[in-house]
Amino acid sequence: MKVIWNNQLVERDTVVIDMEDRGYQFADGLYEVIRAYNGTFFTLDEHIDRLFKGAEKIDLILPFTKPELKNLLHELIKVNQLSTGNVYLQVTRGIASPRNHGYPDLAVTAPVVTATTTNVPRDKEKMEKGITAITLPDTRWLHCDIKSISLLGNIMAKHEAHKLGKDESILHREGNVTECSSSNLSIIKDGVLYSHPDGNLILPGITKLVLLKVARKAGIPVREEVFTLEQLKEADEVFASSTTMEAMPVIEIDGVPIGNGQCGPVVKRLQELYTSAVEAQCGKIN
Ligand SMILES: Cc1ncc(COP(=O)(O)O)c(C=O)c1O
Repeated sequence: MKVIWNNQLVERDTVVIDMEDRGYQFADGLYEVIRAYNGTFFTLDEHIDRLFKGAEKIDLILPFTKPELKNLLHELIKVNQLSTGNVYLQVTRGIASPRNHGYPDLAVTAPVVTATTTNVPRDKEKMEKGITAITLPDTRWLHCDIKSISLLGNIMAKHEAHKLGKDESILHREGNVTECSSSNLSIIKDGVLYSHPDGNLILPGITKLVLLKVARKAGIPVREEVFTLEQLKEADEVFASSTTMEAMPVIEIDGVPIGNGQCGPVVKRLQELYTSAVEAQCGKIN
């Protein structure tokens, strides 16, 4: 299997990551998970734009232009014959020795880029049946809009869900729902879709962006507003969204079923609309 290492494609086992890479020492880096269907990227531009915006926010000068990165990613999925699956792309600020909190001099430290591919089919069974979740205080930092590789807060929250045999943790700040440990969260109440507005408290998910766009176009009212834990639990339907999960019904929260405990009609419609959006870019999927 080939991977991207800096500006080239190399065999996976030839990659060497330095122990003084700032990604390793400080989690000083960014990542993206980009999905391909039928060997074609979906929303590649949106992912690349988010990466560049994140880099700007942390004064990380990326070692490529957007077209250069896109070319490399296209080459990667072609050479690995990725049909339906994910590309994991990571950029760190690079190697700096001795370890020092301050950003290193750009003239001596080049960012380190890696990317891998994984074949992952759509989990249609889960999309039909839905997932279970717990609620937890959002103990993460206040830069959740940056897709940082520093994910301890997220993985601790995910682990709490797994310890209870549940799939996902829904996070809240003083009773206001933000997002989940690895996905955005939206609710449906009386036919209206509510989702936390973008800002520093959530990741501006690309899947959410697509879903809100297709929802509006289909005449489903959308309100990008904060909603509370009480509203969450009284919702008619709840769904999580991410590149890998697409629109995923949440059918049980803290042990209590949402609605009748099954994927509801609006989420089902959103799944169909999302599939159409994918098919418009990538061709027929199943
Ligand atoms: C914390 C968090 N929020 C939201 C998302 C969804 O983002 P996207 O739809 O761009 O995959 C993710 C995806 O990994 C995430 O980790």
